[in-house]
Amino acid sequence: MIPITKPFLPPQEDYKKYLSGIWKRQWLTNMGPLASELEMKLKDHLHVKHLLFVTNGTIALQMAIKALDLKSEIITTPFSFVATTSSIVWEGCKPVFVDIDKESLNIDPTKIEAAITDETSAILATHVYGNPCDVLAIEKIAKKHNLKVIYDGAHAFGVEVYGKSVFEYGDISTCSLHATKLYHSIEGGLIVTKDPALLKRLAYIRNFGFSGTESFAELGINGKNSEYHAAMGLANIPHIEAVHNKRRELTELYNLKLKGLKVKTPSWHNDGTKNYAYYPLVFESEELMLECMKRLAASEIFTRRYFYPSLANTLPYLDPQNFEITDDIAKRVLCLPLYFDLTVEEVELISRLLLRIQNN
Ligand SMILES: Cc1ncc(COP(=O)(O)O)c(C=O)c1O
Repeated sequence: MIPITKPFLPPQEDYKKYLSGIWKRQWLTNMGPLASELEMKLKDHLHVKHLLFVTNGTIALQMAIKALDLKSEIITTPFSFVATTSSIVWEGCKPVFVDIDKESLNIDPTKIEAAITDETSAILATHVYGNPCDVLAIEKIAKKHNLKVIYDGAHAFGVEVYGKSVFEYGDISTCSLHATKLYHSIEGGLIVTKDPALLKRLAYIRNFGFSGTESFAELGINGKNSEYHAAMGLANIPHIEAVHNKRRELTELYNLKLKGLKVKTPSWHNDGTKNYAYYPLVFESEELMLECMKRLAASEIFTRRYFYPSLANTLPYLDPQNFEITDDIAKRVLCLPLYFDLTVEEVELISRLLLRIQNN
């Protein structure tokens, strides 16, 4: 069986080393020493000024919306994971969808201005598959209309654009460290901001709003993460490069082996680095994509329609809306298995089967 993904696990001994410290200190959560060490190491690794380690990528988005005091309408993409939209609704705001660019599959900045109203407070865009959004165009629009910008960088760990971390763009960037992500802490998330005042507010918000043991500075939530999760994050840090290299090799092999397949892949930002988080293919038709998905599954090879369906016409708490490009791409896109333990032989097998299905 070949699953769509398998979490990377460091050698058990490495994780156990951290566990013995937890037992000794009996400090299990509430921003313990491992959580702080993880924050410091990730700040170094990602070359960002400030970051917070939080419970998950969804809480990170909700905290970002709260900390920026966003109200009313937030412009966002319908081609993302449900958490991008649900966080907006959860925080009492209204998602206003803007269609994606058909090449990058990220929000189309040329369509943003038409969606801005007096009620618009921010743009929340996703770096889909880790591919950086057109951050300069979005920054220009945000400045002109006095809007805040949040980037959902759940997929974008380690990506740089114009020579710096993609997380350094916008007012706040978030990331997911969920087990299925290329770098993970089992469950976990990151919030990145360049603004120290915002960082301070976010730190209060993460801890119920406490500013001291008996005082409160903010309306807060429990966004903390545990020492066990931090330990997994720390144990995974020494393997980031090996994971990256293996994913790059497998991606390049897919590219080579799938040369005859009539599909498109998202066009990557010209000045962005890649993290090989996913291997998405856009087929010529939904019919062919479904046939490939079905026949691969018959050989116990599991793929995923990611993202399908469009967030704009599926969620029971929103009025359905159609978007030409999102609806079309969401129907035809399929992600192939990609993970550290995937073998060259398995990539060759998947590629051979896909070509056979197409050519039959
Ligand atoms: C684009 C996007 N945003 C947000 C999230 C939510 O992250 P988490 O699962 O850590 O809550 C995900 C998770 O897969 C995601 O893909």
